[in-house]
Amino acid sequence: ARADALPRDLEGVHVVISAGGTREPLDPVRHLGNRSSGKQGYALARVAAQRGARVTLVTAHTQALAEPAGVDIRPVSTAAQLGEAVQDAARTADVIVMAAAVADFRPADTADYKIKKSDDNPDPDIKLVRNPDILAGLVRQRLPGQVIVGFAAETGDADGSVLDHATAKLKRKGCDLLVVNAVGEGKAFEMEENTGWLLSAEGLRERIPLGAKALLAATVWDAVTGLLHRPGK
Ligand code: CTP
Ligand code: CA
Repeated sequence: ARADALPRDLEGVHVVISAGGTREPLDPVRHLGNRSSGKQGYALARVAAQRGARVTLVTAHTQALAEPAGVDIRPVSTAAQLGEAVQDAARTADVIVMAAAVADFRPADTADYKIKKSDDNPDPDIKLVRNPDILAGLVRQRLPGQVIVGFAAETGDADGSVLDHATAKLKRKGCDLLVVNAVGEGKAFEMEENTGWLLSAEGLRERIPLGAKALLAATVWDAVTGLLHRPGK
């Protein structure tokens, strides 16, 4: 859609979006990372800015992507840095969208020097520790009226379908909206197109058709504006 054809329904709204994948360093030259391209978070930022929002984009590692115009971009690397930057921006945010792929674990120790192979310890183990859940922290510290959106990439498994897992995650996380991407078999990661569901805490379940990441972004902002204009807000 052309920017001038979009509604200006996010005028005066401060949105904070996280994008990309965090990296957790092992030593100065190595890290644990993930395959997030950052495209969905950037599309959310671009569309929000086009619809009039003030946008803060906290971005971890992404593919080479064009910077969306009129967006305040804050680059970070690790989950800890991403958490700090998002929490800082959240103090004035009306809406927070956690589209970043945040590492669940980090190496317990980061070596100051490059780790060398050694015959004394031919098969070293890497000890991992849990990173804090940034989204859960934002929900705990939520400002009045603040709308919080999570993302979940799910595969179905023996314990349930993609939707079963996503519904449980929405409850567990306590956010207002959860965007669910079905992953695996070449879906979502590094792709131009995304498909999935948009689940709301109020029980709404919207199927997001296969389409450009900008289309998914528009669906998310439509739902967010609905929540911002809830009676009593
Ligand atoms: N998230 C976060 N902080 C973390 C991990 C995840 O804020 N340490 C956010 C992600 O940005 C996303 C949402 O939580 O918006 C869901 O991420 P996901 O990895 O699907 O959820 P987890 O609770 O980590 O569950 P899982 O065990 O399935 O990875
Ligand atoms: Ca996770």
